[in-house]
Amino acid sequence: MLTGGGDAPGLNAVLFGLVTRAEALGIECLASEDGYEGLIKGCLVPLDAAKVRGISSQGGSVIGCSNRANPYAYPRRNPDGTLVTEDVSARVAETVKRENVDVVVALGGDGTMAMTSRLALLGVRSVGVPKTIDNDLAATDVTFGFQSAVDFATMAVDRIHTTASAHDRVMIIEVMGRYAGWIALEAGLAGGAHVIVLPEFEYDAQRIADAIHRRASQGVNYSIIVISEGAKPIGGTHAITKDMPAGHLPKLGGAGDRLGKALEPLVPDHEIRVTVLGHVQRGGSPVPFDRVLGIRMGVAAAEAVAAGLEGVMVSLKAGRIVTVPMSDAVGRTRNVTAEDERVLAARAVGVEFGVDFDRR
Ligand code: F6P
Repeated sequence: MLTGGGDAPGLNAVLFGLVTRAEALGIECLASEDGYEGLIKGCLVPLDAAKVRGISSQGGSVIGCSNRANPYAYPRRNPDGTLVTEDVSARVAETVKRENVDVVVALGGDGTMAMTSRLALLGVRSVGVPKTIDNDLAATDVTFGFQSAVDFATMAVDRIHTTASAHDRVMIIEVMGRYAGWIALEAGLAGGAHVIVLPEFEYDAQRIADAIHRRASQGVNYSIIVISEGAKPIGGTHAITKDMPAGHLPKLGGAGDRLGKALEPLVPDHEIRVTVLGHVQRGGSPVPFDRVLGIRMGVAAAEAVAAGLEGVMVSLKAGRIVTVPMSDAVGRTRNVTAEDERVLAARAVGVEFGVDFDRR
């Protein structure tokens, strides 16, 4: 088993459910530490029920995470300092064969599911478990980790409210989520944001300024704006802090600052401040929902292995844990739509999205 990509609250709950149930079913467990790194380096570590006892409430992953260890684009630095990537997938297949691994259970997001299903071509059998705070994985109604991120981001929006109203400021809060706006949408709605800016809808800064002016004309001089890190102005590009080598996603950041700068001349009488929540959304203990979901998914993954399934991902569909083809989660993401009931509800209570929905 491995925990691929960035960490998400609930990984340890999955490992607890998976290893404990697997042991009861007579399945021996080995961990590939730091995502695919262990399998690439040929080093696996035994994991038994005693080692995962009591870890469900802990954040992070007891077997480590890595979003560098992509077997198909493994980073290597040339002597001249340039970073290149190479295909080391054959090393994974060698380790799997040498260690007599029957099934790789990969806990991860779309990137991990893509590389894991590709490894089937080299004879590597696998079961996936959908993880990410971004909640953007197709083929499941929800990923574990998302609720914990929303919980923290909502608490942050609540706190920003009091300081914003005390100072009559426009406060912009940038949240994670990559190219999907789920965290911003749910934390914004729960936290009573006045403007929510999502990657799915390119924004018009003038519409946001108009919303701030409207509130001011009603005697309310502060406004809360929640913006996704992946948000773009109309015709613009993603705000990126760091480009990455081929096969790795760029590091997003700066969307909040960019919006703040665009608003400055449009609302000159308002002070603007930007808060970037960053990795605190991923850290800390999982909320009860993610612990329970994680344990359920871990148990289901062990049972899928025992049943001889391969090339599947466990998934939550209409409240029940099922298995779906892993390929259903690859190459497509689940995004917010204009018709989403949460978007409609937010609009109905006066939230501005910086977009003219009638003209989209
Ligand atoms: O995919 C999870 C996520 O936290 C995104 O929301 C964010 O863009 C990215 O990972 C950050 O990655 P890193 O931890 O490598 O900075």
